[in-house]
Amino acid sequence: MEIKKFSFEIHGDKQGELVSLEEMKNIPFPIRRVYYIYRTEAGVVRGKHAHKSLEQVLICIHGSCRLKLDNGRGETEVLLLDRPNEGIYIANDMWREMFDFSPDAVLMVLASEYYDESDYIRNYQDFLNYVRKE
Ligand code: TYD
Repeated sequence: MEIKKFSFEIHGDKQGELVSLEEMKNIPFPIRRVYYIYRTEAGVVRGKHAHKSLEQVLICIHGSCRLKLDNGRGETEVLLLDRPNEGIYIANDMWREMFDFSPDAVLMVLASEYYDESDYIRNYQDFLNYVRKE
């Protein structure tokens, strides 16, 4: 399974570090929405859905968490997100779960579309059926 990882340039200097994200430059889509997940309770698994039409980049800008990706075709991968300058690109047809959040974790997500509940596939069996029909 091919996973696109972005390593964003760090503009570090004596003052500290800075990372800049720009649509159609280091983020390969128009950024319509930004959301972030924080203060996630221990043991919680978030996500557990796929999208029909959405591009996203996930960046754990503080702390750490794990991301499990499942393409519905028998391939899965678990990634550790623990670098504020690393982004994982996820497009359609990918089941995702986020877990093992450190207490200080802030997971920021850039998305190509506004929030739209009808774009979600929230049932795993529906996801498998959706992928197989394609
Ligand atoms: P949900 O998609 O269940 O979060 P996760 O997949 O990370 O566990 O979203 C939680 C709640 O937040 C749900 O009521 C929908 C709402 N929400 C928005 O209003 N806008 C958004 O952009 C997102 C991602 C969620």
